Amino acid sequence: MEKTDQLYEGKAKKVFKTDNPEMLIVSYKDDATAFNGLKKGTIAGKGVINNKMSNLLMQHLESQGIPTHFIKELNDRETLVKKVNILPLEVIIRNIAAGSFSKHYGVPEGKVFESPTIEFSYKNDELGDPLCNSYHAIALGLCSREEIETVKKYAFKINDLLKAFWSECGVTLVDFKIEFGRLSDGTVVLADEISPDTCRLWDSETGKKLDKDRFRRDLGNVEDAYHEVMVRLQRSIESKKG
Ligand code: TMP
Repeated sequence: MEKTDQLYEGKAKKVFKTDNPEMLIVSYKDDATAFNGLKKGTIAGKGVINNKMSNLLMQHLESQGIPTHFIKELNDRETLVKKVNILPLEVIIRNIAAGSFSKHYGVPEGKVFESPTIEFSYKNDELGDPLCNSYHAIALGLCSREEIETVKKYAFKINDLLKAFWSECGVTLVDFKIEFGRLSDGTVVLADEISPDTCRLWDSETGKKLDKDRFRRDLGNVEDAYHEVMVRLQRSIESKKG
């Protein structure tokens, strides 16, 4: 597959066209930002870990009936994916209070919910990704009623699958953000990435943060945390192979 023009450069990834109009190549960077780009830094080796981890998790989800954009890992940092039109919607699922939820509602971090929550934000950097509900999303023309129902159904199923998957690695899935896209035929598939940039992952025993909160909150040992979760995930996959 030939990589051609760069289509887009985001905060953590670049996207390239290929000679196939239905396929793109994503390239993961080590750049990290937080607070809508206000805080900037580098997490050495992050791009390699996020690429590999996202691909492993997407392949697992695909095997369990969730359609994704994943086609093929090309090298350490690059993956061939199906071209989608991203729904401009961040979909956030939470199992435990943390981050903006704790701040908005005055709930201490670590409070375990009886059942998971879902929230949406309108992906728009200029507006600071404002929260919205499904009616707002439709009114804003971000997606159709049918699409938002599909997104909700997939998001909760993804949560069940990922929670179980991480639990086997001794990791608690606190919350995560996912994005969906439309293929040219209109099919809604999981897109973007699933990584320590986009999930809160806590050590199940100690509660140690093993995700991007170490960068956001200046907790130190950021690279070690990314490496730690990647090693645990790979070990777990290896042990399943027998
Ligand atoms: P929050 O508590 O800051 O709203 O974050 C919820 C989850 O979403 C957390 O796992 C981090 C992830 N997230 C992103 O992936 N991108 C973002 O821009 C933000 C704000 C959060």
